[in-house]
Amino acid sequence: MLLKHHQPSSFTQSDRKPRAVRDVKRSVAVTDVGSLLRSFFKSEPAVSSKQVIADESKYILQTYARAPLVLTHGMGARVWDADGKEYVDMTAGIAVNALGHSDKRWLATLVEQAGKLSHTSNLYHTTAQVDLAKRLVDNSFADKAFFCNSGTEANEAAIKFARKYARVKSGIDPYDGTQSAPHEFVSFTSSFHGRTMGALALTYKEQYKTPFLPVMPGIQLAKYNDLESAKKVIVKGKTCGVFVEPVQGEGGIFPASKEFLQGLRDLCDEAGALLIFDEVQCGLGRTGRLWAHELYGVTPDIMTLAKPLAGGLPIGAALMKQHVADVMKPGDHGSTFAGNPLVCQAACTVFDIINDPSFLASVNAKSERLKAGLRQVTAGNPHVKDVRGSGLLVGIELDMMASPVCDIARDMGVLAITAGKGDIVRLVPPLVLSDADINKAVDVLGVAIKKAGDAAEK
Ligand SMILES: Cc1ncc(COP(=O)(O)O)c(C=O)c1O
Repeated sequence: MLLKHHQPSSFTQSDRKPRAVRDVKRSVAVTDVGSLLRSFFKSEPAVSSKQVIADESKYILQTYARAPLVLTHGMGARVWDADGKEYVDMTAGIAVNALGHSDKRWLATLVEQAGKLSHTSNLYHTTAQVDLAKRLVDNSFADKAFFCNSGTEANEAAIKFARKYARVKSGIDPYDGTQSAPHEFVSFTSSFHGRTMGALALTYKEQYKTPFLPVMPGIQLAKYNDLESAKKVIVKGKTCGVFVEPVQGEGGIFPASKEFLQGLRDLCDEAGALLIFDEVQCGLGRTGRLWAHELYGVTPDIMTLAKPLAGGLPIGAALMKQHVADVMKPGDHGSTFAGNPLVCQAACTVFDIINDPSFLASVNAKSERLKAGLRQVTAGNPHVKDVRGSGLLVGIELDMMASPVCDIARDMGVLAITAGKGDIVRLVPPLVLSDADINKAVDVLGVAIKKAGDAAEK
């Protein structure tokens, strides 16, 4: 049977814009997955980087300052561009591709599940969603999981859960719009929680928010790692939730102190507010622990997850204690795509690989190798202020802007990104990168920082 593109009769050729993309006839009668995949790859046209970049600016809304690079494929921690140039990928799609690119176990899961059932919406039960929830609950502080599609959505879900929790606990009818309850949130300097109106309001950088004002009102800002500052704004009768990243990523690779997280736990308990750990970037093996908060021995009421969970497919999750779950009822929140069987089955595979003591130990060993190497190649460089981080969430703090370093490193075959005020080189590679990948990244970054420093001094 051939699937053909059908054109509605009212839709004439003249209504169409010229199309660069060829119609591809896909035979679904092919039973062998390998030959099906190969038939797709064979029909792939050669791409010209210049053309893709020109088309991108013509057709796609310009909200990203992309590097001038067209990536076509990857394997492990290596990716290749349209001109065949190879790179060590120290970005992993911003801490997403935990298993690297094209992991065989992940691919096999996807192919098998896609051949069975990809999407049902949440109208029905699926085994994959339950299997993933079981894994997350059985291996964390949580009693229930809620699935969504991204980090910002996970935080929006947590915002709603905390709001409803406060309304129910206040003893009012949560569905009576004339009554109010504690509804403020507290977040911290250098935080990043996402780009939708609630998560954006919690995010520190003003420039992300100002063009879209007003964002969600009722946010109190405190200083990260400063309990005295937090004490002033976590207030009984006002605060319903406190959002904090146990290790800040985007804000500049800042780990929390144990005293700070424990202090927040105590302040939330005294105020009757929920403590929400945003582990969208630092969770699921990135720090060398399954959950970043294990480094501190402090547990939240809600934890949000996203980036690495499905190995590159869009997913988000909010894990919560039973007292939070108890206030949510059918119809209170939902999403069409969330937790579909394709994504959840992929996430089960990712989770099983990462949740293995020897895998987590290897993340810690790689972290030590990477940080030691970076300290060695940057020793004596006056532009390097610090090399820090937990696991494979590593930052090199500079006394100059980091983007020229990333540009030079890219030309030399290593991909890295910035963080903080733009003065930090952020390294969030696939957790499976090899010693050879680390060595190349270290050598190239040492040279790139030197060259960028020399240029800045001129
Ligand atoms: C800590 C943290 N929270 C939330 C988000 C938002 O996630 P997403 O981009 O998937 O919406 C990010 C993204 O970088 C993040 O680092």
